[in-house]
Amino acid sequence: MSVDTQKRAAAEAAVDRIEPDSVIGVGSGSTVDQFIDALAASDIRIEAAVAASEVSAARLRRHGIEVRDANSVGELSVYVDGADEITRHLQMVKGGGGALTREKIVAAIARQFVCIVDESKWVTALGDFPLPIEVIPMARSHVGRALVRLGGHPALREGFTTDNGNLILDVRHLDLSQPIAMERQLNDIAGVVTNGLFALRPADELLVGTDTGVQRFT
Ligand code: 5RP
Repeated sequence: MSVDTQKRAAAEAAVDRIEPDSVIGVGSGSTVDQFIDALAASDIRIEAAVAASEVSAARLRRHGIEVRDANSVGELSVYVDGADEITRHLQMVKGGGGALTREKIVAAIARQFVCIVDESKWVTALGDFPLPIEVIPMARSHVGRALVRLGGHPALREGFTTDNGNLILDVRHLDLSQPIAMERQLNDIAGVVTNGLFALRPADELLVGTDTGVQRFT
């Protein structure tokens, strides 16, 4: 089974988690694209969605799904998003697409975070995927030096600006064995907008598309 087929299987399974007429949160990335398409093709009609990226918002609108600003909604019933890495504790590294800040905001206002991934994202420990960190442009050098002091090797994501007008540093070799502590420590660096560790608020449910079907973890 191809990775795309695994992503589609996880995405279709997530459609079953959607309550009709609800307002939901939608993340970003290729797995979420499959979720948006699967939702639009299903019988389920939602009231509206809050999107974590402009790309996802545009795809939702193309399917005729209303997109709302996060400030105009209360709590969302569910947030569906992918991940770059996820563990058995449902802690994640996210931000490969650079949408980590809005993803963290939408996840924060949702009751349930349903993570959908192909099998390659399912890991025993976080840290092989470089950790994305969104940084205010004037703080790039300062944040880079602070990351080096923590043992990281930061690299500027060339030619990339986030939906919020900021930069991304992709950091290798940080010790992510204590993800909650590291997430807090990185948040404390002046100029860091968001880091791609999602450990303080992990997923509530994981749907992994595999060659033998969709595996579910809570
Ligand atoms: C974007 C993300 C995505 O969820 C993550 O990169 C996974 O993407 P894909 O579904 O394309 O593998 O965090 O910022």
